[in-house]
Amino acid sequence: MMNASRPTASREPGAIPGGDFIPLCVPEIRGHAWTYIKECLDTGWVSSVGSFVDRFEREIAAVAGTRHAVATTSGTAALHIALLVAGVQPDDEVLVSTLTFIAPANAIRYAGAWPVFIDADPEYWQMDVDKVRVFLREGCTLAAGELRNKVTGRRVRAILPVHVLGHPVDLDPILDLAREFHLAVIEDAAESLGTRYKGRAVGGLGDVGCLSFNGNKVITTGGGGMLVTNNTDWAKRARYLTTQAKDDPVEYEHHAVGYNYRLPNVLAALGVSQLEVLDAFVEAKRRIAATYVEGLRGVPGLTHMREAPWAFSTYWMYTVVIDPEPFGMDSRKLLAVLQENGIQSRPLWRPLHATRAHQGAERAACPVAEHLYRHALSLPCSVGATPAQLAKVIACIRAASAAGPAAV
Ligand SMILES: Cc1ncc(COP(=O)(O)O)c(C=O)c1O
Repeated sequence: MMNASRPTASREPGAIPGGDFIPLCVPEIRGHAWTYIKECLDTGWVSSVGSFVDRFEREIAAVAGTRHAVATTSGTAALHIALLVAGVQPDDEVLVSTLTFIAPANAIRYAGAWPVFIDADPEYWQMDVDKVRVFLREGCTLAAGELRNKVTGRRVRAILPVHVLGHPVDLDPILDLAREFHLAVIEDAAESLGTRYKGRAVGGLGDVGCLSFNGNKVITTGGGGMLVTNNTDWAKRARYLTTQAKDDPVEYEHHAVGYNYRLPNVLAALGVSQLEVLDAFVEAKRRIAATYVEGLRGVPGLTHMREAPWAFSTYWMYTVVIDPEPFGMDSRKLLAVLQENGIQSRPLWRPLHATRAHQGAERAACPVAEHLYRHALSLPCSVGATPAQLAKVIACIRAASAAGPAAV
């Protein structure tokens, strides 16, 4: 179970490690981790090839329901390679969720392409399918099989929906639109291993999918990622590009500029052990969600993240929205109150269209993402969070709401 004194997954300013501190989301190391890692150390197979890399790839492919999986050093690396194998070229455009961690937009820029930011839907906070449709139908022209943005004149090549917070995007209409407009679909399932859309695992539903195993994800390798696909040529290309594009490893012949993106065997060993307990971890996350729903029932001005009828959410990061007036204070004041009580919480991401890093990219209005950024707060939800810790978070939120601004 969770040891409260270990460091938080993110060493952000304001985090108080140690003591009774309740972190937002930290790794849970269980099962055969030590045995598998020791095997790597004992045999010397610690680097970027080895049986655990092969096994981790096979087992992730089975979970994602894809023919192939290629392990990478991070989810961001997987996204970069996914864009390249999907044929995204410099100066192309890629539609991407604006309400997400910055990695997918950065990966688009690594490929020399440009993000077109799409708002979140107000119900489940995922890429808004209607806004994708409006952009493609009204903002673009299709000629000779090529889609071009009417404003920038750039070729639109792919859609990159991000399954945020462990909940799936409504993918079927996106896949239909992609077929209609000849676009590739690259799923960012970094936060959503174990999530299902209409009963099927996310990541394996588009042309290529990407997963992350960084420290705060459902399972972790410390750092790592995976590209999953049914496309054999793309998988081969991904393997080639992630290993420095070696055409003749003896004579050092390289026909392309490759990358050093392969996951070390010792980290894959941790990944294999974590995957063995994935179901238990997802069950724990869903139990935490149910505890918050029950414990915060009736708190004025507090609404919970929701699960669509077609979704199986892992509730990777449990998030609520605070309406300041009925609740008694805004989300940032609540964050401060929780912090004073040794409880770590975090707002959702600043929408990417509003970040300095991606100024100048194409976007329509994104009022939903902006509203969620101002008002949402993610609560502690480590797999190992104890009932006592969750009860403390719930009591603190209830007290803050009851006391209003006087609580600060
Ligand atoms: C939606 C999303 N995409 C991509 C990433 C990048 O993964 P990594 O940190 O493994 O590079 C993350 C998280 O870190 C993420 O939350």
